[in-house]
Amino acid sequence: MNILAPSILSADFTILGEQIKETKEAGARYLHFDVMDGVFVPSISFGLPVLKSIRKASDQIYDVHLMIEEPIRYVEQFAESGADIITFHVEAASDPREVIDKIHSLGKKAGMAIKPKTDVNAFKPYMESLDMLLVMTVEPGFGGQKYIDYCTDKIKETRKMLDMAGLSTDIEIDGGVNKDNITIPLEAGANVIVAGSAVFNGDISENVHELMKNM
Ligand code: DX5
Ligand code: ZN
Repeated sequence: MNILAPSILSADFTILGEQIKETKEAGARYLHFDVMDGVFVPSISFGLPVLKSIRKASDQIYDVHLMIEEPIRYVEQFAESGADIITFHVEAASDPREVIDKIHSLGKKAGMAIKPKTDVNAFKPYMESLDMLLVMTVEPGFGGQKYIDYCTDKIKETRKMLDMAGLSTDIEIDGGVNKDNITIPLEAGANVIVAGSAVFNGDISENVHELMKNM
């Protein structure tokens, strides 16, 4: 089952609650929440109080993408603030296993993300324990960038690695997706698709329908 995860990074924050509801009503099952610390990535986005506040807006699966150094420090607070899935970057964690265990101990799903230049083998030691693998298809930090073509092969390699291990774990991809290229990551083996600007620029319901038509 393929899932669309609208990233609110590109939303209009003056009417955030309404826009979230619109994504849900249009059929998006996840809501993607990008947390940036200005250290792991050059930009700063939003964090705990915003998550806590928008949790009330919808009963979608809240998919929290932590682009922060040493994510272990904040796992508990993001869990308490309403995250359903907590995804952290392997490059940012000195002890990834500890982060996964902590997320699970709080009853949440654990995802691991890799940047475009990180080898997919980084997933390997942790695959069995992960609920989702996130292959970034842009350099993390900003919305509205172009999909990096060489990442398609990384999605294929990740799916192959999972298949060989007999796992059917979700593969999420994030960055540069629009209605014209959405089939590329899907055919490569991804099944959770993040889209920010392609959802929130223009008419949200129409955009969600257009994107989901090709899923
Ligand atoms: C980038 C973020 C993405 C971003 C995607 O660091 O992780 O979730 O919002 O934006 P688009 O879909 O516009 O590339
Ligand atoms: Zn993201």
